Amino acid sequence: MGGESEKWILMVTARTPTNIAVIKYWGKRDETLILPINDSISVTLDPSHLCTTTTVSVSPSFDQDRMWLNGKEISLQGGRFQSCLREIRARAQDVEDKKKGIQIKKEDWQKLHLHIASYNNFPTAAGLASSAAGLACLVFSLAKLMNLKEDNSQLSAIARQGSGSACRSLYGGFVKWVMGKEDNGSDSLAVQLADEKHWDELVIIIAVVSAQQKETSSTSGMRDTVETSALIQHRAKEVVPKRTVQMEDAIQNRDFPSFARLACRDSNQFHAVCLDTYPPIFYMNDTSHRIISCVEKWNRAEGIPQVAYTFDAGPNAVMIARNRKTAALLLQRLLYNFPPQSDTDLDSYIIGDKSILIDAGIKDMKDVEALTPPPEVKDNIPLTQKSKGDVSYFICTRPGGGPVVLSDETQALLDPLTGLPK
Ligand code: DP6
Repeated sequence: MGGESEKWILMVTARTPTNIAVIKYWGKRDETLILPINDSISVTLDPSHLCTTTTVSVSPSFDQDRMWLNGKEISLQGGRFQSCLREIRARAQDVEDKKKGIQIKKEDWQKLHLHIASYNNFPTAAGLASSAAGLACLVFSLAKLMNLKEDNSQLSAIARQGSGSACRSLYGGFVKWVMGKEDNGSDSLAVQLADEKHWDELVIIIAVVSAQQKETSSTSGMRDTVETSALIQHRAKEVVPKRTVQMEDAIQNRDFPSFARLACRDSNQFHAVCLDTYPPIFYMNDTSHRIISCVEKWNRAEGIPQVAYTFDAGPNAVMIARNRKTAALLLQRLLYNFPPQSDTDLDSYIIGDKSILIDAGIKDMKDVEALTPPPEVKDNIPLTQKSKGDVSYFICTRPGGGPVVLSDETQALLDPLTGLPK
């Protein structure tokens, strides 16, 4: 270890996306190693709208490992953080920064302490897979800091031990988490099926649904499901293996109707096994169900699916439209059925890629009020009678790329002189 003085700080900043599963992971065969009972497939979401940025730093002047999430210090004592830190430190390599005169030997990493700061560019409380992006970013940025030789797939097996779904955030585009067979988990990792350019027509609209009650965590929910549901065995053994193959084909062939049917049915089955858990788990609410019927009615009227929907362990809807044109038509339908509260302006009600609004011909609230019922809807309930505020806001986005290192030092979340949050 060394350098001119012992005051040096070395740091790396990286950005990692969130992902949404279209074939769900639900149920573990090993709780500590986080090994799943079935394969799963996800779409990575564009990090410009949803991502975690993490700065990791090391200095001989740090006396303990510390972490800040969105500016607030959090404990690193949890078993999952500790597993990730242990696995990464065990693979650390020699690091040399000639410019700063820093040399770190492999074995030094066991003694050196880390400061970590992480920031989500979306509200953590919205329940949008923040842990997936967060754990993936922690592992990815530490791997860069410590000069690991492992590729992203091998890193995914470390991120998996932080949170299962995190392993799929090590790649952009379309990703499969292969469940693996080994007891030690060495073959339970993520592989990229196709990058984000492969199918770049897709548009994703997320409805952040107002939720009153605190939902059951994924970790305890899936534990209860495995312990009490007979249906989950059928799902893991019979349904998912076939569906995974079909989903891989649909992605490879950009076959939207098959992609949509498989994604919707898999989401519905995941919520069915939650209902089959005893006591039952309810993640979706009335608003979620209304969104499903809005999409299903439209898909049925068109004869072929225009939009897919999928819901994770919460009431938020993630809708995937086949292209910009259908996304604009979807947004019109969503705004007709779920108008904002009177005191909400359109600009904060539709966030992310706002250009979809222009495609939908909606400039202001007057245009929202002038929306007419879509042809597949028989009722004609005036806007004034609709329950406003069931959706907090919508995020428009698209499939996106995997983790990247941010070399621009101004983007670092830690002060390069003190190693504390800026
Ligand atoms: C419904 O990855 O949050 O989002 O492995 O216990 O941390 P742990 O669970 P987590 O579960 C995610 C479940 C899901 C489906 C999915 O992402 O595949």
